[in-house]
Amino acid sequence: MASRIYFIIFAVNALHEIAAELGKKDWNFSENPCNNKSSWFTPPPTHGSQAINNSTVTCKCSFTNGECHIEVIILHRNYLKGIIPHEWAALKLETLSVAMDHITGPIPGNLGNITTLKYLSLENNQFSGTIPPEFGRLVNLEYLTLNANYLTGKFPSSLANLSNLK
Ligand SMILES: *[C@@H]1O[C@H](CO)[C@@H](O)[C@H](O)[C@H]1NC(C)=O
Ligand SMILES: *[C@@H]1O[C@H](CO)[C@@H](O)[C@H](O)[C@H]1NC(C)=O
Ligand SMILES: *[C@@H]1O[C@H](CO)[C@@H](O)[C@H](O)[C@H]1NC(C)=O
Ligand SMILES: *[C@@H]1O[C@H](CO)[C@@H](O)[C@H](O)[C@H]1NC(C)=O
Ligand SMILES: *[C@@H]1O[C@H](CO)[C@@H](O)[C@H](O)[C@H]1NC(C)=O
Ligand SMILES: *[C@@H]1O[C@H](CO)[C@@H](O)[C@H](O)[C@H]1NC(C)=O
Repeated sequence: MASRIYFIIFAVNALHEIAAELGKKDWNFSENPCNNKSSWFTPPPTHGSQAINNSTVTCKCSFTNGECHIEVIILHRNYLKGIIPHEWAALKLETLSVAMDHITGPIPGNLGNITTLKYLSLENNQFSGTIPPEFGRLVNLEYLTLNANYLTGKFPSSLANLSNLK
């Protein structure tokens, strides 16, 4: 029980840092992000209009030990700016998508620490620099999209280790 409470506090602190860094203002920190409440879980529109935000945080909870962790962060077209905060790396995410925002700076290599990631979408931002070789550690990765940024250089050879990529 104690470790569960500790984990949720830690994850919420990470979300605070992310919100502050990227200017995400509509998360309600009085609500538990693992309750699927409205400020954390905005059901996406069905008609696929690109003008409408797609912003979702969901958790995976274990029925056996009751532990929850944040599994999915999607922030499509949320007009977010700034750089990717280091705190992402503390989250055991399976899905991270910040497509179609205005995020600048290099792609942080420490995203390679989120080895639980299956879906990583960074396309349509203003990332610059090279693809971090640390991405070779994302051995569970199935989807990776990086297009429409200002990236330079070659694909790092470590990506050859991503045998689950589809
Ligand atoms: C945030 O959540 C709390 C608790 O559910 C609620 O009382 C409050 O009105 C919410 N704030 C906003 C701005 O929606
Ligand atoms: C929140 O939503 C996710 C995805 O729909 C689901 O897997 C999870 O069980 C939900 N959590 C709660 C507490 O309802
Ligand atoms: C929202 O984003 C997720 C992840 O990219 C995607 O799977 C889903 O189809 C999107 N929903 C809409 C309505 O665009
Ligand atoms: C999209 O998201 C941003 C930040 O989360 C918000 O400020 C903006 O009003 C949203 N736009 C729409 C059309 O909902
Ligand atoms: C995350 O990755 C960075 C750079 O690859 C590394 O220096 C750091 O020790 C890692 N942090 C954790 C908690 O594993
Ligand atoms: C692939 O992974 C193995 C085992 O972790 C490592 O020894 C090797 O250097 C990696 N290959 C590349 C090209 O990074």
